Amino acid sequence: MPTNNALLSRLGLQYPIIQAPMAGTSTPALAAAVSNAGGLGSLGLGNVSAEVAREQIRQLKQLTDKPFNINMFCHKPDPMDIPRETAWLKRLQPWFAEFDATAPTKLDAGYDSFLGNQAMLDMLLEERPPVVSFHFGLPDTQAIAALKQAGIFLMGCATSLAEARAIEAAGLDAIIAQGYEAGGHRGLFDPQQESGLELQELLAQLHGNIKLPIVATGGLMDGADIAGVLAQGASAAQLGTAFISCPESAAPAAYRERLLSPAAQHTGVTAIFSGRPARGMLNRSHREIAPYSSELTGYPQAYSAAKALHAAAAAKGSHDFAPYWAGTSAHRSRALPAAELMACLVREIQQV
Ligand SMILES: Cc1cc2nc3c(=O)[nH]c(=O)nc-3n(C[C@H](O)[C@H](O)[C@H](O)COP(=O)(O)O)c2cc1C
Repeated sequence: MPTNNALLSRLGLQYPIIQAPMAGTSTPALAAAVSNAGGLGSLGLGNVSAEVAREQIRQLKQLTDKPFNINMFCHKPDPMDIPRETAWLKRLQPWFAEFDATAPTKLDAGYDSFLGNQAMLDMLLEERPPVVSFHFGLPDTQAIAALKQAGIFLMGCATSLAEARAIEAAGLDAIIAQGYEAGGHRGLFDPQQESGLELQELLAQLHGNIKLPIVATGGLMDGADIAGVLAQGASAAQLGTAFISCPESAAPAAYRERLLSPAAQHTGVTAIFSGRPARGMLNRSHREIAPYSSELTGYPQAYSAAKALHAAAAAKGSHDFAPYWAGTSAHRSRALPAAELMACLVREIQQV
């Protein structure tokens, strides 16, 4: 059992297992259960205000005295484009009509990026979570310096060697290597620069070219998967989909049911839900709306249209338009309490 690598000792972890931050799905209870079991629990707070994030961090601190990770989104927000947004909502209207609903007349601007978000930075410097990780790019040099000065361990998500090099050059402490198998949003710095690299190939490209410790993520569900990436040189594994079925997650019942059904065998990447590419279980949005991708509006404003359509459909009992994010191995989901899942993963790693 590899309990002696530099990343684990630096973070004070017993096991090389990180529960992925999952905005809207991770909870303080889930993160605390994982941290208390010797892994690193995470909260995805990229989609909330500084006040809500502070509240969540405080709840988590009540539940664990072990290290944990807070995740932020560093996207460059796409500018609002009213004519394009109006046209997009008009495009979606026939699907709303199917559920006796009307498409909203305008899109919501969504949530703020961490870039230039002084309130969020101040909150992090005050709350001082042990670890902060970034998705969709990197914060500016001053924010990185301030967080490091506060003793916070920083990780950035890379989907290519170029992004990993940028994270290393920016002085962060570790790299999360995200393979194309991963559930949820691709961590792409620039959504137009898709490498499409699967995890094994990405790890191979980073090997020898990157000095920072690497956390492997994407399609990992059990101890054998984790042992596999450790053997490839990763210092730890980050699992997202594997933890969605835990009772401590915020996933609604329909999401859980799908993960444990044959539907979980089919996932795909599309930007159609939010404006940025993300992997989820295939449904009517992938089949019927994705062909209109060229008309799509930007991230994160497009998300409000997809959420409104899902809400209208769900009100009539349909979950065919839901952004149910899931990795390619979702069909191997296990509905276990997080502490039991952790014990299981540790046993399986030891068996390898
Ligand atoms: C429901 C869900 C939400 C996610 N939200 C975030 C997020 O807020 N921040 C982030 O860095 N990654 C997020 N991810 C991606 C994970 O960090 C990770 O890359 C992915 O879960 C790994 O693939 P797996 O789901 O097959 O384990 C999310 C993934 C899922 C499944």
